[in-house]
Amino acid sequence: MTSWNSPEDENALMNLVDSEREQIELELLLEGMHRMYGHDFRNYATPSLRRRIWNFIKMNNFRNISSLQEKVLHDRLTFDRLVHNISIPVTEMFRDPQLFKSFRENVVPILRTYPYIRIWHAGCSTGEEVYSMAILLYEEGLYDKTRIYATDMNSQSLKQAQSGIFGIEKMKLYTKNYIEAGGSRSFSEYYTAKYNSVIFKPFLQKNMIFAEHNLATDRSFNEFNVILCRNVMIYFNDKLRDHVHELFHESLSRFGVLILGSKESIQHTNYGSLYEPLDRVEKIYRKIN
Ligand SMILES: C[S@@+](CC[C@H](N)C(=O)[O-])C[C@H]1O[C@@H](n2cnc3c(N)ncnc32)[C@H](O)[C@@H]1O
Repeated sequence: MTSWNSPEDENALMNLVDSEREQIELELLLEGMHRMYGHDFRNYATPSLRRRIWNFIKMNNFRNISSLQEKVLHDRLTFDRLVHNISIPVTEMFRDPQLFKSFRENVVPILRTYPYIRIWHAGCSTGEEVYSMAILLYEEGLYDKTRIYATDMNSQSLKQAQSGIFGIEKMKLYTKNYIEAGGSRSFSEYYTAKYNSVIFKPFLQKNMIFAEHNLATDRSFNEFNVILCRNVMIYFNDKLRDHVHELFHESLSRFGVLILGSKESIQHTNYGSLYEPLDRVEKIYRKIN
Protein backbone atom coordinates (compact mmCIF):
# COMPACT_ATOMS: atom_id res chain seq x y z
CA MET A 1 0.00 0.00 0.00
CA THR A 2 1.31 3.47 -0.86
CA SER A 3 1.83 5.84 2.03
CA TRP A 4 1.70 9.59 1.39
CA ASN A 5 4.66 10.00 3.69
CA SER A 6 7.00 7.56 1.96
CA PRO A 7 10.49 8.94 1.14
CA GLU A 8 9.65 8.59 -2.58
CA ASP A 9 6.60 10.82 -2.16
CA GLU A 10 8.57 13.39 -0.22
CA ASN A 11 11.25 13.41 -2.90
CA ALA A 12 8.64 13.81 -5.62
CA LEU A 13 7.06 16.67 -3.69
CA MET A 14 10.43 18.39 -3.18
CA ASN A 15 11.17 18.05 -6.89
CA LEU A 16 7.84 19.62 -7.69
CA VAL A 17 8.49 22.50 -5.31
CA ASP A 18 11.98 22.97 -6.79
CA SER A 19 10.68 23.05 -10.33
CA GLU A 20 7.86 25.46 -9.43
CA ARG A 21 10.36 27.72 -7.66
CA GLU A 22 12.66 27.57 -10.68
CA GLN A 23 9.76 28.47 -12.99
CA ILE A 24 8.93 31.49 -10.80
CA GLU A 25 12.59 32.56 -10.76
CA LEU A 26 12.79 32.25 -14.54
CA GLU A 27 9.63 34.32 -15.08
CA LEU A 28 10.90 37.00 -12.69
CA LEU A 29 14.26 37.17 -14.44
CA LEU A 30 12.62 37.57 -17.86
CA GLU A 31 10.16 40.14 -16.52
CA GLY A 32 13.03 42.08 -14.93
CA MET A 33 15.09 42.03 -18.14
CA HIS A 34 12.11 43.29 -20.10
CA ARG A 35 11.25 46.10 -17.68
CA MET A 36 14.82 47.18 -17.06
CA TYR A 37 16.32 46.95 -20.56
CA GLY A 38 13.36 46.46 -22.95
CA HIS A 39 14.56 43.06 -24.22
CA ASP A 40 11.67 40.63 -24.21
CA PHE A 41 12.48 36.93 -23.93
CA ARG A 42 9.15 36.03 -22.30
CA ASN A 43 7.89 34.28 -25.42
CA TYR A 44 10.97 32.25 -26.25
CA ALA A 45 10.59 28.46 -26.23
CA THR A 46 11.37 27.52 -22.64
CA PRO A 47 13.56 24.38 -22.84
CA SER A 48 16.28 25.98 -24.97
CA LEU A 49 16.10 29.30 -23.10
CA ARG A 50 16.36 27.54 -19.74
CA ARG A 51 19.37 25.56 -20.95
CA ARG A 52 21.18 28.71 -22.10
CA ILE A 53 20.47 30.50 -18.83
CA TRP A 54 21.71 27.58 -16.73
CA ASN A 55 24.88 27.37 -18.87
CA PHE A 56 25.49 31.03 -18.12
CA ILE A 57 24.83 30.49 -14.41
CA LYS A 58 27.34 27.64 -14.26
CA MET A 59 29.99 29.44 -16.33
CA ASN A 60 29.79 32.46 -14.03
CA ASN A 61 29.37 30.70 -10.68
CA PHE A 62 25.97 32.10 -9.75
CA ARG A 63 24.03 30.08 -7.18
CA ASN A 64 20.68 30.09 -8.95
CA ILE A 65 18.45 32.12 -11.28
CA SER A 66 17.59 34.61 -8.51
CA SER A 67 21.23 35.48 -7.85
CA LEU A 68 21.74 35.95 -11.60
CA GLN A 69 18.66 38.20 -11.65
CA GLU A 70 20.08 40.45 -8.93
CA LYS A 71 23.34 40.90 -10.85
CA VAL A 72 21.58 41.44 -14.20
CA LEU A 73 19.34 44.18 -12.80
CA HIS A 74 22.31 46.08 -11.33
CA ASP A 75 24.92 45.51 -14.00
CA ARG A 76 24.36 46.28 -17.69
CA LEU A 77 27.50 44.40 -18.68
CA THR A 78 26.21 41.15 -17.20
CA PHE A 79 22.90 41.72 -18.99
CA ASP A 80 24.74 42.21 -22.32
CA ARG A 81 26.77 39.06 -21.77
CA LEU A 82 23.65 37.10 -20.90
CA VAL A 83 21.88 38.34 -24.06
CA HIS A 84 24.90 37.32 -26.12
CA ASN A 85 24.72 33.88 -24.53
CA ILE A 86 21.00 33.50 -25.10
CA SER A 87 21.19 34.71 -28.69
CA ILE A 88 23.06 31.66 -30.11
CA PRO A 89 25.07 33.57 -32.74
CA VAL A 90 25.88 30.48 -34.79
CA THR A 91 26.03 30.95 -38.55
CA GLU A 92 28.18 30.32 -41.61
CA MET A 93 28.62 31.59 -45.17
CA PHE A 94 26.28 30.01 -47.72
CA ARG A 95 24.82 27.98 -44.86
CA ASP A 96 22.51 25.31 -46.31
CA PRO A 97 23.90 25.85 -49.85
CA GLN A 98 20.78 24.40 -51.48
CA LEU A 99 18.82 27.38 -50.25
CA PHE A 100 21.13 29.80 -52.06
CA LYS A 101 20.98 27.62 -55.16
CA SER A 102 17.20 27.76 -55.02
CA PHE A 103 17.38 31.53 -54.51
CA ARG A 104 19.39 31.84 -57.74
CA GLU A 105 16.87 29.70 -59.61
CA ASN A 106 13.56 30.85 -58.14
CA VAL A 107 14.02 34.35 -56.76
CA VAL A 108 16.69 36.01 -58.92
CA PRO A 109 14.48 35.90 -62.08
CA ILE A 110 11.77 37.78 -60.14
CA LEU A 111 14.27 40.32 -58.82
CA ARG A 112 15.58 41.01 -62.32
CA THR A 113 12.23 42.60 -63.17
CA TYR A 114 12.50 45.18 -60.35
CA PRO A 115 14.15 48.59 -60.82
CA TYR A 116 15.36 48.58 -57.22
CA ILE A 117 15.62 45.77 -54.62
CA ARG A 118 15.33 45.95 -50.83
CA ILE A 119 16.27 42.88 -48.78
CA TRP A 120 15.96 42.40 -45.02
CA HIS A 121 18.05 39.79 -43.19
CA ALA A 122 16.29 39.52 -39.82
CA GLY A 123 18.48 37.85 -37.18
CA CYS A 124 21.66 38.14 -39.28
CA SER A 125 23.99 37.27 -36.39
CA THR A 126 27.64 37.98 -37.33
CA GLY A 127 26.75 38.67 -40.96
CA GLU A 128 28.02 35.65 -42.90
CA GLU A 129 24.57 35.19 -44.48
CA VAL A 130 24.58 38.83 -45.58
CA TYR A 131 28.02 38.69 -47.25
CA SER A 132 26.89 35.48 -48.99
CA MET A 133 23.83 37.26 -50.38
CA ALA A 134 25.94 40.23 -51.54
CA ILE A 135 28.28 37.86 -53.42
CA LEU A 136 25.36 36.02 -55.04
CA LEU A 137 23.68 39.25 -56.15
CA TYR A 138 26.99 40.63 -57.43
CA GLU A 139 27.48 37.53 -59.57
CA GLU A 140 23.94 37.85 -60.90
CA GLY A 141 24.55 41.51 -61.80
CA LEU A 142 21.93 42.72 -59.29
CA TYR A 143 23.98 44.06 -56.41
CA ASP A 144 24.25 47.64 -57.68
CA LYS A 145 20.49 48.10 -57.51
CA THR A 146 20.11 46.36 -54.14
CA ARG A 147 20.10 47.62 -50.58
CA ILE A 148 20.50 44.97 -47.87
CA TYR A 149 19.24 45.79 -44.38
CA ALA A 150 20.73 43.37 -41.85
CA THR A 151 19.45 43.39 -38.29
CA ASP A 152 19.89 41.50 -35.06
CA MET A 153 19.15 42.13 -31.38
CA ASN A 154 22.74 41.25 -30.47
CA SER A 155 24.89 44.39 -30.76
CA GLN A 156 28.11 42.44 -30.27
CA SER A 157 27.34 40.22 -33.28
CA LEU A 158 26.48 43.27 -35.39
CA LYS A 159 29.87 44.87 -34.65
CA GLN A 160 31.59 41.77 -35.94
CA ALA A 161 29.30 41.71 -38.99
CA GLN A 162 30.15 45.32 -39.79
CA SER A 163 33.89 44.65 -39.62
CA GLY A 164 33.74 42.13 -42.48
CA ILE A 165 36.53 40.17 -40.75
CA PHE A 166 36.17 36.42 -40.25
CA GLY A 167 38.43 33.56 -39.13
CA ILE A 168 40.60 32.10 -41.87
CA GLU A 169 40.06 28.54 -40.59
CA LYS A 170 36.45 28.65 -41.80
CA MET A 171 37.26 29.46 -45.43
CA LYS A 172 37.60 25.81 -46.46
CA LEU A 173 34.01 25.08 -45.43
CA TYR A 174 32.76 28.40 -46.84
CA THR A 175 34.45 27.70 -50.20
CA LYS A 176 32.76 24.29 -50.34
CA ASN A 177 29.38 25.87 -49.46
CA TYR A 178 29.90 28.60 -52.07
CA ILE A 179 30.50 26.04 -54.83
CA GLU A 180 27.51 23.93 -53.74
CA ALA A 181 25.40 27.08 -53.76
CA GLY A 182 26.16 27.57 -57.46
CA GLY A 183 29.15 29.94 -57.17
CA SER A 184 31.22 29.88 -60.33
CA ARG A 185 34.29 31.94 -59.50
CA SER A 186 37.16 31.44 -57.13
CA PHE A 187 35.77 32.21 -53.65
CA SER A 188 39.12 33.72 -52.59
CA GLU A 189 38.50 36.59 -55.05
CA TYR A 190 36.14 38.05 -52.47
CA TYR A 191 38.53 38.41 -49.54
CA THR A 192 42.08 39.27 -48.56
CA ALA A 193 43.84 37.02 -46.07
CA LYS A 194 45.86 38.55 -43.25
CA TYR A 195 47.44 36.43 -40.48
CA ASN A 196 44.60 34.28 -39.07
CA SER A 197 41.77 36.32 -40.54
CA VAL A 198 40.26 37.29 -43.84
CA ILE A 199 38.68 40.62 -44.64
CA PHE A 200 35.97 40.72 -47.26
CA LYS A 201 36.40 43.19 -50.13
CA PRO A 202 34.92 46.62 -49.30
CA PHE A 203 32.75 46.70 -52.46
CA LEU A 204 30.60 43.97 -50.86
CA GLN A 205 29.77 46.24 -47.93
CA LYS A 206 28.79 49.14 -50.15
CA ASN A 207 25.04 48.39 -50.11
CA MET A 208 24.72 46.85 -46.64
CA ILE A 209 23.18 48.57 -43.64
CA PHE A 210 23.53 46.90 -40.22
CA ALA A 211 21.24 47.96 -37.38
CA GLU A 212 19.95 46.75 -34.05
CA HIS A 213 16.36 45.54 -34.28
CA ASN A 214 14.45 43.26 -31.95
CA LEU A 215 11.79 41.10 -33.59
CA ALA A 216 9.89 40.75 -30.31
CA THR A 217 9.56 44.46 -29.56
CA ASP A 218 10.43 46.64 -32.59
CA ARG A 219 8.14 47.54 -35.46
CA SER A 220 8.56 47.46 -39.21
CA PHE A 221 11.00 50.04 -40.59
CA ASN A 222 10.65 49.76 -44.38
CA GLU A 223 9.02 47.86 -47.23
CA PHE A 224 11.01 44.93 -48.62
CA ASN A 225 11.01 42.76 -51.74
CA VAL A 226 12.69 39.91 -49.84
CA ILE A 227 12.85 39.01 -46.16
CA LEU A 228 15.14 36.23 -44.90
CA CYS A 229 14.76 34.96 -41.38
CA ARG A 230 16.45 31.61 -40.89
CA ASN A 231 17.22 29.71 -37.71
CA VAL A 232 15.74 32.45 -35.55
CA MET A 233 12.07 31.64 -34.97
CA ILE A 234 12.90 28.05 -33.99
CA TYR A 235 13.71 29.56 -30.59
CA PHE A 236 10.31 31.30 -30.26
CA ASN A 237 6.97 30.02 -28.96
CA ASP A 238 3.86 30.04 -31.20
CA LYS A 239 2.68 33.43 -29.94
CA LEU A 240 5.95 35.19 -30.75
CA ARG A 241 6.23 33.36 -34.07
CA ASP A 242 2.79 34.69 -35.08
CA HIS A 243 3.77 38.17 -33.95
CA VAL A 244 6.89 38.07 -36.14
CA HIS A 245 4.91 36.75 -39.11
CA GLU A 246 2.55 39.69 -38.76
CA LEU A 247 5.57 42.00 -38.81
CA PHE A 248 7.00 40.32 -41.91
CA HIS A 249 3.67 40.29 -43.73
CA GLU A 250 3.20 44.02 -43.24
CA SER A 251 6.86 44.67 -44.20
CA LEU A 252 6.76 42.74 -47.49
CA SER A 253 5.82 44.47 -50.72
CA ARG A 254 3.15 43.00 -53.00
CA PHE A 255 4.44 39.59 -54.22
CA GLY A 256 7.39 39.96 -51.85
CA VAL A 257 9.43 36.84 -51.04
CA LEU A 258 9.72 35.35 -47.55
CA ILE A 259 12.58 32.92 -46.90
CA LEU A 260 12.50 30.77 -43.78
CA GLY A 261 14.92 27.93 -44.60
CA SER A 262 14.29 24.20 -44.31
CA LYS A 263 13.92 24.10 -40.51
CA GLU A 264 10.93 26.45 -40.35
CA SER A 265 7.53 26.63 -41.96
CA ILE A 266 4.70 29.07 -42.42
CA GLN A 267 2.21 26.25 -41.82
CA HIS A 268 0.76 26.13 -38.31
CA THR A 269 0.90 29.93 -38.16
CA ASN A 270 -2.00 32.27 -38.91
CA TYR A 271 -0.28 33.42 -42.12
CA GLY A 272 0.01 30.24 -44.24
CA SER A 273 -2.84 31.14 -46.60
CA LEU A 274 -1.31 34.52 -47.43
CA TYR A 275 1.68 33.00 -49.27
CA GLU A 276 2.32 30.51 -52.06
CA PRO A 277 5.42 28.29 -52.06
CA LEU A 278 8.27 28.94 -54.51
CA ASP A 279 10.32 26.12 -52.96
CA ARG A 280 8.57 23.78 -50.52
CA VAL A 281 11.80 22.24 -49.20
CA GLU A 282 13.80 25.40 -48.59
CA LYS A 283 10.62 27.17 -47.45
CA ILE A 284 10.73 30.05 -49.88
CA TYR A 285 7.32 31.72 -50.18
CA ARG A 286 5.75 34.50 -52.19
CA LYS A 287 3.18 36.82 -50.66
CA ILE A 288 -0.10 36.58 -52.56
CA ASN A 289 -2.56 38.29 -50.20
C1 LIG B 1 21.32 30.95 -35.00
S1 LIG B 1 21.48 32.63 -35.44
C2 LIG B 1 20.96 32.59 -37.14
C3 LIG B 1 21.83 33.45 -38.02
C4 LIG B 1 21.53 33.33 -39.52
N1 LIG B 1 20.20 33.80 -39.83
C5 LIG B 1 21.73 31.94 -40.03
O1 LIG B 1 20.74 31.22 -40.26
O2 LIG B 1 22.87 31.51 -40.19
C6 LIG B 1 20.09 33.34 -34.60
C7 LIG B 1 20.17 34.85 -34.50
O3 LIG B 1 18.87 35.36 -34.17
C8 LIG B 1 19.04 36.47 -33.33
N2 LIG B 1 17.81 36.72 -32.58
C9 LIG B 1 17.23 35.95 -31.62
N3 LIG B 1 16.15 36.56 -31.13
C10 LIG B 1 16.02 37.74 -31.80
C11 LIG B 1 15.09 38.82 -31.73
N4 LIG B 1 14.08 38.80 -30.86
N5 LIG B 1 15.27 39.86 -32.55
C12 LIG B 1 16.31 39.90 -33.43
N6 LIG B 1 17.22 38.92 -33.53
C13 LIG B 1 17.08 37.84 -32.72
C14 LIG B 1 20.20 36.06 -32.44
O4 LIG B 1 20.81 37.18 -31.84
C15 LIG B 1 21.11 35.32 -33.42
O5 LIG B 1 22.08 36.16 -33.96
